[in-house]
Amino acid sequence: MDAPFAVEAENIFFSYASELPVLRGLSMRVERGCFACVLGHSGCGKSTLLNLVMGLSRPSSGVVKINGAEAEGPGTDRAIVFQDCSLFPWMTAQENVAFAIRHARKITKQASAALAADFLSQVGLYESRGKYPNQLSGGMKQRVAIARALAMDSEIWLFDEPFSALDPQMRRSLQSLVSGLAKCGRPRTVLFVTHNVDEAVTLGERILFMNGGVISGDFEVPFGYPRVPEEIAGTQEYFSLVSRLAERFCDAGRAEEARQ
Ligand SMILES: Nc1ncnc2c1ncn2[C@@H]1O[C@H](COP(=O)(O)OP(=O)(O)OP(=O)(O)O)[C@@H](O)[C@H]1O
Ligand SMILES: [Mg+2]
Repeated sequence: MDAPFAVEAENIFFSYASELPVLRGLSMRVERGCFACVLGHSGCGKSTLLNLVMGLSRPSSGVVKINGAEAEGPGTDRAIVFQDCSLFPWMTAQENVAFAIRHARKITKQASAALAADFLSQVGLYESRGKYPNQLSGGMKQRVAIARALAMDSEIWLFDEPFSALDPQMRRSLQSLVSGLAKCGRPRTVLFVTHNVDEAVTLGERILFMNGGVISGDFEVPFGYPRVPEEIAGTQEYFSLVSRLAERFCDAGRAEEARQ
């Protein structure tokens, strides 16, 4: 039988070289098809956690599992949007996306080119598809990286603050694209890292709060999909959840100061 959890971390520790551990016994379980947001202050280890789930590094101890099997390296079952986009500088936007599609979907060059153009158009970059990364703004590069991840058709999406360089209107539009695609068709499991409490509540079904190298809080979001941000933002449930999360941030900040 299929494992019910797409992503599991069991008591993982991770340190960079001889530094103190960034992750200190972190455990979490994310059900298949769940949209989980990971929220936490800068430097708490969110990107480190995502890299471990992607299989780009291994925990010092403990285990990361993908669909019940230990993650031993990257695979096309997972697509990641890195915090710094990480596009190939020698490829155009179109070529960056098409290359990833061909690698992940094993389809012809022609079919991958058509799909790449389609996904670039969904993120509003059809006209810029022939440009190289150094000819794109920070927000445009983020959008190429998002198109690339979505187009790979992976089962698990790992997003590391993908909307941080976007203006509010573009942010809303891409939030709606990502949550719409995540919640239609075959189940996708999403780990979406953000600093932004509103974004976490707007997108997630669960919010995993990270602090002190562990997941220190697990909040259920009381809204279904499709979700209209303007509608939920006026509700008592929204206000109550945002207040609880903001309080967590303050507590975490105070604890961090005390540690330093
Ligand atoms: N390659 C590295 N070598 C050494 N230390 C690192 C490395 N990458 C990250 N760190 C350290 O590990 C800690 C966690 O970093 P990480 O990037 O995972 O945090 P984050 O929660 O993603 O932060 P942000 O929200 O600012 O992106 C930080 O103290 C950081 O300085
Ligand atoms: Mg980070």
